[in-house]
Amino acid sequence: IGTIVYANSTTASKSVAKQIADLIRVKQAQKQPCILGLATGSSPKGLYAELVRLHKEEGLSFKNVVSFNLDEYYPMEPDSVNSYVRFMKEQLFNHVDILLENYNVPDGLLSKEAIADYCDAYEAKIEALGGVDLQILGIGGNGHIGFNESGSLQNSKTRLVALDHITRVAASGDFGGLDNTPRTAITLGVKKIMEAKRVILMAWGEGKSNIIKASVEGGVTSAVPASFLQEHNNATFILDQAASSKLT
Ligand code: F6R
Repeated sequence: IGTIVYANSTTASKSVAKQIADLIRVKQAQKQPCILGLATGSSPKGLYAELVRLHKEEGLSFKNVVSFNLDEYYPMEPDSVNSYVRFMKEQLFNHVDILLENYNVPDGLLSKEAIADYCDAYEAKIEALGGVDLQILGIGGNGHIGFNESGSLQNSKTRLVALDHITRVAASGDFGGLDNTPRTAITLGVKKIMEAKRVILMAWGEGKSNIIKASVEGGVTSAVPASFLQEHNNATFILDQAASSKLT
């Protein structure tokens, strides 16, 4: 894993946005789609704000972008305040020229019986496009990537998962208490994350410093799914000073 430390999350986010913009433009010149893997949560908000600015002020077009979000709570209505569909629309999709049919967020409204086939089709759609060019990740306090919680295997598929207590506690503020917080989610599996041609994981703040150290300098273990990225040949952790503060 490469690690790059920035003075703060704003400059770091701008640098990631620049890399995405460069990739989109290279693919445009080649008349190819640009396949992005996207995350929600607080960590990529600055990135999406900068991408919106690049669209509005510098003419960056998203017409050749096809995106796949990592995860969605289950069950979840797409227009609910906590849905990741809504998050993505508000943070990015509604403000750029990405085509409606070109963004994908796991469906939180499926019947239980339909989930397995839906997850297989989600992966097949990524494969049919030639795979993810650039996967954006955040990291949970327990080392989860997507909602691949501790114990997720390196070859895990896209699937319905039970959320860890620590993940539900972190989300409970948004849901008005733990009792209202979903217990399950649909997540892209570790295997598809590892198959992305390039991976950028972003982490900010002191609160992430211990898990960043474990992910980068600890053993490769399913206890810390982000540690699997040590075995990826093109993964970079983009950190602010505080998140990097425990690295040796
Ligand atoms: C969100 C996701 C999660 C978050 C992680 C960190 O799509 O896949 O793995 O990236 O929980 O969340 P924040 O950025 O809110 O600290």
